[in-house]
Amino acid sequence: TSFMALKGERTLAMIKPDGIYGNFTDRIKQVILENGFFIVQELMVQLVVENATLFYSEHSAKSFFPNLVEYMTSGPVLAMVIEKTNGISEWRALIGPTDAGKARVSHPHSIRAMCGSSAQRNCVHGSDSALAAAREILFFFGDISAGAGAAAAAAVEL
Ligand code: TYD
Ligand code: MG
Repeated sequence: TSFMALKGERTLAMIKPDGIYGNFTDRIKQVILENGFFIVQELMVQLVVENATLFYSEHSAKSFFPNLVEYMTSGPVLAMVIEKTNGISEWRALIGPTDAGKARVSHPHSIRAMCGSSAQRNCVHGSDSALAAAREILFFFGDISAGAGAAAAAAVEL
């Protein structure tokens, strides 16, 4: 059996532990769907230190890194492959600025304004480029990017 692939641009969305524990999952998914994204695949996992260190390796030299890894391993996360035309930038626009405290002032309707509380505890992630999206989707889901094979793999996973 083969499947038609969707036509949009895929990005990696993730609800971080504060978003899960704050019971924001349904509201965040509602925003995703209301804004015309498809949720292609989803996976709830508990990251361990090794995973979080690898996922955020670009920030490994930053002073906030140890606290970031501790936070990201403090509970489960929900990773989602979401897809829409210009999906990468559209999702970044929906989540708002990194610092959720600032987001509440400058972008009060953003997701981070809704459920985040600080520069660290900002409740959601979004890939910031096509390269990052490819890497981050691979990180959580393996290779689901190849046309009909991708859709078939997604059908099995869901
Ligand atoms: P960054 O890639 O700058 O932000 P974004 O998530 O918007 O792409 O940083 C990655 C994560 O690192 C961020 O989501 C939360 C954490 N972080 C801190 O804990 N403190 C900080 O001062 C910054 C800038 C980020
Ligand atoms: Mg980033």
